[in-house]
Amino acid sequence: MKKVYNFNAGPCVLPKPAIEAAIEALKDFKGTGMSVIEISHRTKEWDAVMDECRSLWRELLNIPDTHEILFMGGGASMQFLMVAMNFLEKKGAYLETGVWAKKALKEAKGLGEAYAVASSADKTFCYIPKDYEIPADADYFHITTNNTIYGTEIRKDIDSPVPLIADMSSDIMSRPVDVSKYALIYGGAQKNVGPAGVAFAIINKETLGKVSRYIPTMLNYQTFIDGASMFNTPPVFSIFVMNETLKWLKAQGGVEAINKINVRKAEMLYDEIDRNSMFVGTAAKEDRSIMNVCFVMAPGKEELQDEFMAFAKDHGMVGVKGHRSVGGFRASLYNACPVEAVEALVACMQEFEKLHK
Ligand SMILES: Cc1ncc(COP(=O)(O)O)c(C=O)c1O
Repeated sequence: MKKVYNFNAGPCVLPKPAIEAAIEALKDFKGTGMSVIEISHRTKEWDAVMDECRSLWRELLNIPDTHEILFMGGGASMQFLMVAMNFLEKKGAYLETGVWAKKALKEAKGLGEAYAVASSADKTFCYIPKDYEIPADADYFHITTNNTIYGTEIRKDIDSPVPLIADMSSDIMSRPVDVSKYALIYGGAQKNVGPAGVAFAIINKETLGKVSRYIPTMLNYQTFIDGASMFNTPPVFSIFVMNETLKWLKAQGGVEAINKINVRKAEMLYDEIDRNSMFVGTAAKEDRSIMNVCFVMAPGKEELQDEFMAFAKDHGMVGVKGHRSVGGFRASLYNACPVEAVEALVACMQEFEKLHK
């Protein structure tokens, strides 16, 4: 197989052992003589996967008993609507830190009163707003902890006087989180915890049941709690690979251990961006994401952008292009991205600089 360094923003690089296990299970699931996509989800073999997956989530993120772990279809984008359906009664408060935060807010506005408490739209979302007050009369406060597109991240569990809800699609399991501080943490799996096709929600059961609207069955978190995420057919293959991805993470030493590696990888790349005369970082330094590193050509070197893209591609780099809405470059350094890939990208940037000195 061709050797590449995969910096895709999601779907993205996954642990090799998880992919190997998926290939095996596609052929023969646990010696059943059937593929994992051929078996019934109402079997003891499948129950064992669901149970193992839930208990790995609980163990790896230290999830307290107050919170349930749910798996659903519809991606994080469906969660934007589910959040508002299940929590919005009088007023929803949002921190507008990027495109995904805006999309979450839009869904809430469609159902009632919702607004941005603070926004960094004035500077193309290159920073996290700091001076704002969370309204004590809001039903909830919604944040997007990692801004996949602009490369900013809230790495601290903030204190909120109202139920705190976080989209952690692109930094879940990359660092320790105090789950007890959140009413709900949700996201799409397709960055750190598996392939596309399954969304996760970690929800404090006590925070539900406070809205007066009718909530359609499939948009109601209670449905997934009552049915142990199997009210209807779950996305079995995606959950299978998620389970294998979490097994891999546990074998790496868990979330604390991977966080150290993630910080090291990000520091290596940011140090190079700051040192290299060809590039500049786009996110405010104090808010830089450990997961998505965004940068552009330095002033005066803009015309070299396509040349660097081609140069990086020739050196085996995949997915270093910035999001289509912002341009420039973005390297996503999710859990399964090895240190070696970051070393290769840094070497490639150094070589490019030498070429143009
Ligand atoms: C922070 C964040 N939220 C939400 C989404 C949307 O996820 P999905 O495609 O699963 O709907 C993404 C996708 O990249 C994301 O990065």
